[in-house]
Amino acid sequence: MDLIKFENFYYRYKGNEEYALNNINLKIEDSKFILLCGETGSGKTTLIRCMNGLIPQFYTGFYKGKVELWNGRNTVETPIADLSTEIGIVFQNPENQLIAMNVEHEIAFGLENLGVPVKEISKKIKESASLTEIEHILDKAPFELSGGEQQRVAIASILVLEPKILILDEPTALLDPYMAKKIINLLNEIKNEKNISVIISEHRLDLLLPYAQEIILMKSGRVIEHGYREKVINGENFQTLRLNKPVIYSIFSILKNENLYDKTIPASIPEAIRSLK
Ligand SMILES: Nc1ncnc2c1ncn2[C@@H]1O[C@H](COP(=O)(O)OP(=O)(O)O)[C@@H](O)[C@H]1O
Ligand SMILES: [Mg+2]
Repeated sequence: MDLIKFENFYYRYKGNEEYALNNINLKIEDSKFILLCGETGSGKTTLIRCMNGLIPQFYTGFYKGKVELWNGRNTVETPIADLSTEIGIVFQNPENQLIAMNVEHEIAFGLENLGVPVKEISKKIKESASLTEIEHILDKAPFELSGGEQQRVAIASILVLEPKILILDEPTALLDPYMAKKIINLLNEIKNEKNISVIISEHRLDLLLPYAQEIILMKSGRVIEHGYREKVINGENFQTLRLNKPVIYSIFSILKNENLYDKTIPASIPEAIRSLK
């Protein structure tokens, strides 16, 4: 099932001459872990803003084409508040997203807006807090939390709404390597448990590649490639883009160029070991 479908979509921010998105044709399927990558300024954040209607409803600019959801709704006519319950986005600085007095209220906020009965709200809070491992900080104020904790609270407050898609824009930018790994691992578990699609825009490819099933490559406002991980990382686009590639990729890429290795380039160390057996 296609959860989100971009059809010949163009977008230009107000006041800009250049299109930030140029003829996007893209399908996001259900139950996928998708890595969105591209150089800074290639349009990743802009693409994400289109998925819950922020573009063109909040960032009014010039657009052409359409973005449609699985249920036939489109992102131009459906109010952002409605889209946001189905398409959960955690933006780059989660602290700007956290508005309530404490974590528990933060998670309850979206459910209260939806008119969910109180009894059910507390059950759902417990469930999402346990999934994101934040039960011990439910009574804390968002500003008292570390970056990693804020990130998990932002994820929890979106998860309770049971979105079909969870999108994170550079989630590990504010995190140390340990917490970054923990959060990515958590997202993968949530994806498997809840059967939702996860899209992550991220520079830390060493961390993400082992989990990604699909990769979307962006360059200058265009989606230049979208496909299964193995195919994309073995292609020319991935090779030529200026991305922070994992060491394991670079080593096998060189070995391949030197004709010392002839299989597909592995996405992780365990895969590399398997391919050498
Ligand atoms: N709010 C905005 N107003 C005007 N231009 C913007 C805005 N946000 C992004 N842009 C421009 O759109 C292009 C794509 O940016 P962005 O989507 O942030 O790329 P990425 O997330 O891949 O770094 C860039 O040229 C950027 O300057
Ligand atoms: Mg960005």
